[in-house]
Amino acid sequence: MGGESEKWILMVTARTPTNIAVIKYWGKRDETLILPINDSISVTLDPSHLCTTTTVSVSPSFDQDRMWLNGKEISLEGGRFQSCLREIRVRAQDVEDKKKGIKIKKEDWQKLHLHIASYNNFPTAAGLASSAAGLACLVYSLAKLMNLKEDNSQLSAIARQGSGSACRSLYGGFVKWVMGKEDNGSDSLAVQLADEKHWDELVIIIAVVSARQKETSSTSGMRDTVETSALIQHRAKEVVPKRIVQMEDAIQNRDFPSFARLTCTDSNQFHAVCLDTCPPIFYMNDTSHRIISCVEKWNSAEGAPQVAYTFDAGPNAVMIAHNKKTAALLLQRLLYNFPPQSDTDLDSYIIGDKSILKDAGIKDMKDVEALTPPPEVKDSIPLSQKSKGDVSYFICTRPGGGPVVLSDETQSLLGPLTGLPK
Ligand code: DP6
Repeated sequence: MGGESEKWILMVTARTPTNIAVIKYWGKRDETLILPINDSISVTLDPSHLCTTTTVSVSPSFDQDRMWLNGKEISLEGGRFQSCLREIRVRAQDVEDKKKGIKIKKEDWQKLHLHIASYNNFPTAAGLASSAAGLACLVYSLAKLMNLKEDNSQLSAIARQGSGSACRSLYGGFVKWVMGKEDNGSDSLAVQLADEKHWDELVIIIAVVSARQKETSSTSGMRDTVETSALIQHRAKEVVPKRIVQMEDAIQNRDFPSFARLTCTDSNQFHAVCLDTCPPIFYMNDTSHRIISCVEKWNSAEGAPQVAYTFDAGPNAVMIAHNKKTAALLLQRLLYNFPPQSDTDLDSYIIGDKSILKDAGIKDMKDVEALTPPPEVKDSIPLSQKSKGDVSYFICTRPGGGPVVLSDETQSLLGPLTGLPK
């Protein structure tokens, strides 16, 4: 270790996206290493609307590893954090910052302590895969700080040990988590199927659905499923392997009808498997079911899928529209069925890429109130009977890129002199 004094602090800030699975991961064959019972495929979401930013720092003046999430200190004691930190530290390399006169030898990393600050640009409680982006960002930023030689795929195998779905956040675009065969998990990692430019007309609308109670965590939910459901065995062995091949083809060929059918069917099977668990797990609620029926009705009236929907371990709907035109038509339908509460303004009800709202011809609440029922709906719903407030808000976004290092020091979450949250 070097430097004029022992006061130096070295830091790296990175940003990592969330992802939404279109072929779901549900069920582990190894709980500690987090090894899944089937492959899964996801779409990475645009980090400008949904991402985690993490600053990691090291200094000889730090006397323990510490972490802050959204400004609040959290414990790093959990086994999953510890697995990630251990796996990264053993791969750490020599680091030299000539400008600052800092030299860290690879063996020093075992003794040096870290300060980590993480921030989500979306509400953590909204249930939008914050742990996936968070763990991926922790691993990615530490790998940059400690100068690891591993590529993103090898890093994904470390992030996987923090949270399974996190491994898919190491890449942008379309990503496959290969389940692997090895007992030690070395071949259970993420690979990129196509980058975000490959199919850039897709538009994603997320309905953040108000949940009344805390849901069963994915970790314990999938444990119960593997222990009690017979259907999960059939899904993992017979159904998913075929769907993975079909989904890869659909993505490669930008075949939207196949992509949408597979996405919806797989989400529905995942929820069927939850219902087949003892005791049964309900992640979707009434609002989720109404969203499904709104999309299904429209898709069947058109004779071909316009929009795909998928739901994770919660009631939020992630809808993937074929292009901007179908996204605008979808937004009209969503606002017709789920108008905002009278005290909510449109600007905070539709967030993210607001251009979709413009394409839908909606400027203000008057335009929302003037929406007529879509042609596939026979009887119009009177405004008084629409349940306002069932959707908290909508996020308009698109497929996006993978992790990046932010070199602009003003984006760092830790003070350069204190190593504490700014
Ligand atoms: C329904 O990755 O949160 O979102 O590996 O136990 O941390 P752990 O679970 P997690 O499970 C995600 C489940 C899912 C489907 C998916 O993302 O593939």
